[in-house]
Amino acid sequence: MVKLAASMMCSDLLNLENNIQILDQAGIDFFHIDVMDGNFVPNLGLNLDFITQMRRVTQTPIDVHLMVRKPEDYISRLDKEYCDYLSFHLESTDFPFRLIREVKNRKMRAGIAVNPSTSGDSLKAMIKDIDYTLLMTVEPGFAGQLFIPQMLNKISFVKRIIQDNNLSVLIFADGSINENNGKLCVDHGADVLVCGTSSIFKKDVELSESVIAFREAINSTV
Ligand code: DX5
Ligand code: ZN
Repeated sequence: MVKLAASMMCSDLLNLENNIQILDQAGIDFFHIDVMDGNFVPNLGLNLDFITQMRRVTQTPIDVHLMVRKPEDYISRLDKEYCDYLSFHLESTDFPFRLIREVKNRKMRAGIAVNPSTSGDSLKAMIKDIDYTLLMTVEPGFAGQLFIPQMLNKISFVKRIIQDNNLSVLIFADGSINENNGKLCVDHGADVLVCGTSSIFKKDVELSESVIAFREAINSTV
């Protein structure tokens, strides 16, 4: 059964605690927190203080997506107490194996995020070391962009690497996920959909209803 991660950069930033409570009541599976440094991507995201405070109001797994030039500076300031899943971009470091070990030593599940133009092949060397991979389906940094359909083949390519190695590495799809492409991502092998303005944070739909409606739409077979 596919799981849903709410992309909190798309939430009502003036009512964050209320949004967290509504999402929890609606049964969200993860909170996805985009951390951006304005350098790796030309945007700024939620910060580490927000992440540590989130744990005060929810026990739902927190999935942090580092879109930063120096991920090691952020990994050293997070641990299992505040963050359950931590991904960094393969494009942001020369030492991914060292960072994967550091994330695991801090008792978090380790993920590698890759930009759309980075090949699925690049994950092969570390596929046995990671717990999940975050496959970007838009260029990173902003909500509300266009879904890149070529990423569907990358999802199935990476899924085949995972299956050929008999691993249980999860695939997260992140960026402009809606009912139609979300279903396609699942059909191609995605286990978790990162949900932002294209799925659950919609202007004309109550947040309390949008999670349930989106989950029903994704799971419907029609
Ligand atoms: C983009 C972020 C995504 C994004 C999802 O860099 O990683 O989490 O906010 O939002 P939508 O669905 O609007 O693309
Ligand atoms: Zn993200």
